[in-house]
Amino acid sequence: MPKAELHIHIEGSLEPELIFAMAARNGVAIAYSSVEELRQAYAFSNLQSFLDIYYAGASVLLHEQDFHDMAWAYLERAAADNVVHAEIFFDPQTHTARGVDMGVVINGLHRACVEAKARLGVDASLILCFLRHLSEDDALETLQQALPYRDKFIGVGLDSSEVGHPPEKFARVFEKCRGLGLHLVAHAGEEGPPAYVWTALDVLKVERIDHGVQSTKDPALMKRLAQDRIALTVCPLSNLKLCVFPQLADHNIRELLDAGLAATINSDDPAYFGGYMNENFTQTFAATGLTAAHAYQLAKNSFDASFTDAATKRRYT
Ligand code: ADE
Ligand code: ZN
Repeated sequence: MPKAELHIHIEGSLEPELIFAMAARNGVAIAYSSVEELRQAYAFSNLQSFLDIYYAGASVLLHEQDFHDMAWAYLERAAADNVVHAEIFFDPQTHTARGVDMGVVINGLHRACVEAKARLGVDASLILCFLRHLSEDDALETLQQALPYRDKFIGVGLDSSEVGHPPEKFARVFEKCRGLGLHLVAHAGEEGPPAYVWTALDVLKVERIDHGVQSTKDPALMKRLAQDRIALTVCPLSNLKLCVFPQLADHNIRELLDAGLAATINSDDPAYFGGYMNENFTQTFAATGLTAAHAYQLAKNSFDASFTDAATKRRYT
């Protein structure tokens, strides 16, 4: 089934084998002695326990070619799962804080996106994410550094540690991005309360909510999301591995879809959570009893919610 992936952190697609290969070629020390030992450390209790190891993994990325190779490996894997359109998150502050130039990050990722269209038939674009555990001033400075590359990304997002860092902390920088014509998205309601989904919508004015699974706790919010067709980019295997739901069978994806919300299925950080797009679909369908009609709706939602042009949307829906 052709589909769009709207929630993939490119640093979360970095497989342990590639981490070790890049560590060796770049002379970067890592705290694990083998690929197996690193993979064994992928046992998480919540979002923060994952983020600590995710940022450590990204420390092997230094050169433009590294960013290219990481994105290319993801795009080949996505193509194999019949992902024909991908909107890819990247976390520049993770790299610029280590002295890597913004141009190295964006040019490397963008070159892989251009090649993907020509060689894989995958239409890929970039969304720059601000790290919410850092200050809004840091986000504003990051935006400034990225502006020379404005033509190489289509939007901005908000990710990292959610609880204690509400969307409204980033009101000014999102306002500025809106003025620049950038698309706006934000993680909200992954671990955080429904109140964060409300402020992502009403203060940041985002067009989609990343995760949003906590929304089912607030009937008024569910109504708003359904009425305004605000898409939720849901990531079932991520939610399972970060203990948002005890078991996949407990996931609320069916409740979201049956309430008329524009939910989609995505992989989030596939190298860490045990599966790319098709794995997310097959495991979720097996565990929750979703039907073929739900599968069609999920694929349709993914294109409808994407930032691609109307002709591409028509071709696939
Ligand atoms: N960065 C990478 N994956 C993330 C997630 N699931 N939530 C918040 N920030 C992230
Ligand atoms: Zn995410």
